[in-house]
Amino acid sequence: MMTQTYQFKTPSVIVNGPGAAREAGSFAKGLGKKALIVTDHALEKIGLLNDVKNSLEIAGIPMAIYDKVISEPSMDYTEEGLKVYRETQADFLVAVGGGSPIDAAKGIAALATNPGKISDFAGANKIPNPGAPLIAIPTTAGTGSEVTQFTIITDTSRDVKMLIASPNIMPRVALVDPLMTMRMPQGITAATGLDALTHAIEAFVSVKAQPITDTLALQAIWVIAGNVRQAWSNGDNIEARTNMMIGALQAGMAFSNSSVALVHGMARPIGAYFHVPHGVSNAALLPTVIEFSIPGNPERYAEIAEAMGEITEGLSVLDAAYLAADAVERLNIDLKVPTLRELGVEEKKFNSVVEQMAADALASGSPGNNPRKATKEEIVELYRRAYSKE
Ligand SMILES: [Fe+2]
Repeated sequence: MMTQTYQFKTPSVIVNGPGAAREAGSFAKGLGKKALIVTDHALEKIGLLNDVKNSLEIAGIPMAIYDKVISEPSMDYTEEGLKVYRETQADFLVAVGGGSPIDAAKGIAALATNPGKISDFAGANKIPNPGAPLIAIPTTAGTGSEVTQFTIITDTSRDVKMLIASPNIMPRVALVDPLMTMRMPQGITAATGLDALTHAIEAFVSVKAQPITDTLALQAIWVIAGNVRQAWSNGDNIEARTNMMIGALQAGMAFSNSSVALVHGMARPIGAYFHVPHGVSNAALLPTVIEFSIPGNPERYAEIAEAMGEITEGLSVLDAAYLAADAVERLNIDLKVPTLRELGVEEKKFNSVVEQMAADALASGSPGNNPRKATKEEIVELYRRAYSKE
């Protein structure tokens, strides 16, 4: 009999449900004396930080704010954020936002306690010391960054999205509050929802999948597929928003431990070269990459189709598996997810960088977790197929 052990890491506390963000103060007291809130000023403008700030105030925790994380984070954000962290003498971080502020805060957390530049930490387990304590409070139901040991920071000098993976940047506390997502516009609800679905699907088919991640991933696929249309159609639907938050959380816990695979490996270069939002890059690739990957593990894709509500009874495993690609395709259409062309990805530039994108995708390591391995030539072909979709 083959024996194998599995590791599963997660923040020490996850609070979820409406009002969870108001618990920031009570956890902050155990983490430090002064908070640096890392966020995007647009969120502050619409009042999304009020609950968190009030809660810190009631707990008697002074705070400073770094609110310049307005897009997916580059090295500039982590350096600037670190400067503010030092200048304001903060000793822990509270990230409020989508994946971007949380990812930026993880970079700042690493730099606060480790000598070097953020690019020194690219790859797996390159951060020697535990990062500064971090409370993560997501405002989208998507990235799962609040519960992952990953951050993605763009090295702007090379147009590369660096994947940094280390338990030393895992948030200590995740406050997962659907009330923070009620005002998310439709486009972001769709893109982040598709990102969460991609996490769940990739965690489930990853060669690093394990029993605990399987349970979370499959449940996440079911919850997300069953609620994302409702959350998108009617943003005030608190039940759908709450379910989406739980689905994204489960998907995050799953892929943090079993890794993402080919879709994410290929999506990052699209983001780096064309500044396409992460969730939209995933959505554009997902049906094509599922079709390619099915031969590697048809049983798993058949289970995905079923979890997405497809009727698989009476079908062969293979026929059922292909319904997973159809289900995702239909979701893209229903949620009006723009195609790469509609987002202004220009054909000439696409053709000139597609080889390099394939090389960057492979170099990230994520495609190595895919149930069917892809060569560089196959990745180029998959990019072209996803791009040709109208
Ligand atoms: Fe993602």
